[in-house]
Amino acid sequence: MPRRRKAIVAGNWKMHLDAAKARALASAVAAAAPRMPTVDLVLCPPAPYLGEVAGALGLSGGRGASGVALGGQNCHHKESGAFTGEVAPGMLVDVGCRYCILGHSERRALFGETDAMIDAKVQAALAAGLTPIVCVGESLEEREAGRTEAVVTAQLLGSLAGLPAADLPRIVVAYEPVWAIGTGKVATPEQAQEVHALVRGLLASRSSAAVADGIRIQYGGSVKPDNAAELASRPDIDGALVGGASLKADDFLAIAAAFA
Ligand code: 13P
Repeated sequence: MPRRRKAIVAGNWKMHLDAAKARALASAVAAAAPRMPTVDLVLCPPAPYLGEVAGALGLSGGRGASGVALGGQNCHHKESGAFTGEVAPGMLVDVGCRYCILGHSERRALFGETDAMIDAKVQAALAAGLTPIVCVGESLEEREAGRTEAVVTAQLLGSLAGLPAADLPRIVVAYEPVWAIGTGKVATPEQAQEVHALVRGLLASRSSAAVADGIRIQYGGSVKPDNAAELASRPDIDGALVGGASLKADDFLAIAAAFA
């Protein structure tokens, strides 16, 4: 059965690799990408290597010949200013990014990002022409307390609070249960599908069922080549946000192939 929405598989390299390894990994992904025209591929390297990776992908401000897009891992909500250590959304665009991960659980938990901050970043990213990948997900404690639905609902609606309904089709959402990130403990396809359906329902409540039907929702958390196909078979799982496995070209490409 053809997929309802074009799949999107993104590699979140987090704070890993060096310039030479980043270039080599991007080149390997770019070389294989033309075999996967039905999947949008995105690489999100550490900020200092965005230029290196843009070069390896043949980018000149967007989607290069390889078809692989570039994304940031975070951005500030202002266009410029005295914000030492921060990166403006327009700067990401300037070096070739089309996407930006926002509200990753590591940003929320380790760097104190709130729904209100993420909301501001989402709007700023869109204004700069980026597609935000908006992340939500519950902790193990919250899941065990039966609070998954409440937590994901609050995060999603809070992170999109100021977004006009007309702009909803311009975002991607990533559901990443915190307990599955970097733990090797993947959510079952049923657990993931249940939350993805919840997210789609929330998006519909902010716009319409038809609009929500077109929005892509990625799953993230220990996605590997051996569990990707099962996740990909669920109706509301439209791709993956991949951490550890995205650092190996073969694994990342195998995951992407599962969504092709
Ligand atoms: P892992 O794939 O390493 O669990 O990381 C997931 C993630 O946080 C992607 O953003």
